[in-house]
Amino acid sequence: MQSITLKRPDDWHIHLRDDTYLERTVQDAARYFGRVLVMPNLVPPVTDVNLARAYRDRILGHAPDGFTPVMALYLTDQTSADTVVAASQSGFCPAFKLYPAGATTNSAFGVNAIEAMFPVFEAMQEHDVILSIHGEVTDEGIDIFDREAAFIDTMLTKIVHEFPALRVILEHITTREAAQFVAEASDKVAATITAHHLLFNRNDMLVGGMKPIHYCLPILKRDIHQKALVHAAVSGNRSFFLGTDSAPHPRHAKENACGCAAGCYTAHAAIELYAEVFEAENALQRLEGFASEYGADFYGYPHNTDTIQLDKDAWHVEEKLAFGTDELIPTRGGESVAWRVTSGARPLKKV
Ligand code: DOR
Ligand code: ZN
Repeated sequence: MQSITLKRPDDWHIHLRDDTYLERTVQDAARYFGRVLVMPNLVPPVTDVNLARAYRDRILGHAPDGFTPVMALYLTDQTSADTVVAASQSGFCPAFKLYPAGATTNSAFGVNAIEAMFPVFEAMQEHDVILSIHGEVTDEGIDIFDREAAFIDTMLTKIVHEFPALRVILEHITTREAAQFVAEASDKVAATITAHHLLFNRNDMLVGGMKPIHYCLPILKRDIHQKALVHAAVSGNRSFFLGTDSAPHPRHAKENACGCAAGCYTAHAAIELYAEVFEAENALQRLEGFASEYGADFYGYPHNTDTIQLDKDAWHVEEKLAFGTDELIPTRGGESVAWRVTSGARPLKKV
């Protein structure tokens, strides 16, 4: 049987939600990830260090020992330089997440005019706080499939030019243009790549009828973009690293005739799904860099010192998972995943 051992991986982009949903999301994320960067798009959003501390404590209440949530703060039109300084001194809020208002789930509190945030970016640059970006324009006139490329052209280029020392992460990239931009940018600019954008393209979502399970934002693109993402992920370029964007929604919100919620749940099988992609490219030897090293390096954390082992031993994914009092349809639900974590998984904490 094929087998691979990795330093314990981290997930640099995850949605854990809150309250009764934490039981599912934290236990799945904590099976083998060391650190996770927790997205702040709750309602109301996690906009400052005190809110982040309280949220982190709620997460830790469901977590086994050794699991470390680090928190992204939600950037709003009101975010001040003082909040940036507080984040930089907190020790657990390394990044602010920029959601253009209206771009995605719970982004209504997001930024309306990005240029107006430049003084805040200045403070982030000065205090070495990371700017994590949902990179899509929101103009109604721009086709949904072009919104990431348009964001790079009209906004990201400007941000990177104005703030050359600011560490910037273009989250969950979905296009050839994004992969190229990041590959050509300085080492201050990086990108996370999800498992679902590596495994699927828009045909998976649309051919034979719309499949809500694959609807996420930025939306799945055509296969040339998927191939560019796979190429970037397996390339060994240290600017690309693992961020699942695992984003659960209850089944009734996704399988909704009027307005399917955006988000794919992958935390139940994340590293296993990435292993499939790297294996298909004969690049399993580069999975450790992508999953366990480059993200930690960019964030300035040490690599985890323990390991996990994956064996090529297929397992069946349950069709649906318990999610608070709701149901959650996981990616690959009712199907199989080729790789299995056989050591290094943490004992789950009973709640
Ligand atoms: O598909 C997505 N789901 N994209 C996002 O940007 C947000 C996320 C969510 O929170 O559901
Ligand atoms: Zn996200």
